[in-house]
Amino acid sequence: MLQEIPTTTSSPRAASSCVLETERLILRKPTLADVKAIAHLANDRRVAEMTRRLPYPYTRDDAARFVAALAHDNNESVFLIELDERPIGVVGIDWREPDAPELGYWLGVPYWGRGFATEAARAAIDYTFEEFSVGQLISGARVANPASRNVLEKCGFQWTGVELHRFEALGSSTPVDRFRLSRGVWSSLKSWSDAARR
Ligand SMILES: CC(C)(COP(=O)(O)OP(=O)(O)OC[C@H]1O[C@@H](n2cnc3c(N)ncnc32)[C@H](O)[C@@H]1OP(=O)(O)O)[C@@H](O)C(=O)NCCC(=O)NCCS
Repeated sequence: MLQEIPTTTSSPRAASSCVLETERLILRKPTLADVKAIAHLANDRRVAEMTRRLPYPYTRDDAARFVAALAHDNNESVFLIELDERPIGVVGIDWREPDAPELGYWLGVPYWGRGFATEAARAAIDYTFEEFSVGQLISGARVANPASRNVLEKCGFQWTGVELHRFEALGSSTPVDRFRLSRGVWSSLKSWSDAARR
């Protein structure tokens, strides 16, 4: 039986300066040089209305504040997602609840539908469970967001219920499906391929 390990107090900030590589993507810390690209990608109602904290419209000042805040924010591990050296979105872990860190992500619309969110989310999940002894990750997707639900399910997350959450760009609250990925399930999925039928 796989055992869940209790949370430690490792600093997530140190981790967000890591660079993660996947088959097609590089995940790295955003810098002020990325402000223009982040604002360009995030300033889209289709993105903002599916994320809790992005305002709409989303300006360069918003992006600059977001990047500057990361320098002294101990509560989030944030990665810019790059494809062929171009920013395409953001994935992050919010550590405000240290026993239940929360995965979040968004991609610019031109990059939807090619598996990039799943690839980036898996890298952020592996990084979290490998670098920190946390027992679970949580996440959520608006009930009206089947693409994000699919991403979470493809990463092994299991549905835990529905909650109402406020969305900045909507200016109101809306139902959100909540999901959980335990270390046990993650570890089982990771080892499955090793034990696959030959
Ligand atoms: C959600 C989001 C990150 C998905 O990015 P993506 O790179 O297109 O995702 P992936 O390609 O890895 O996977 C999406 C899956 O959902 C499926 N999908 C896409 N649109 C769908 C829809 N309208 N209904 C059902 N399934 C849908 C895709 O087919 C794919 O599943 P598959 O691999 O089994 O075919 C992207 O659409 C986005 O940034 N949206 C706005 C912000 C957001 O929703 N962030 C998440 C907040 S919880």
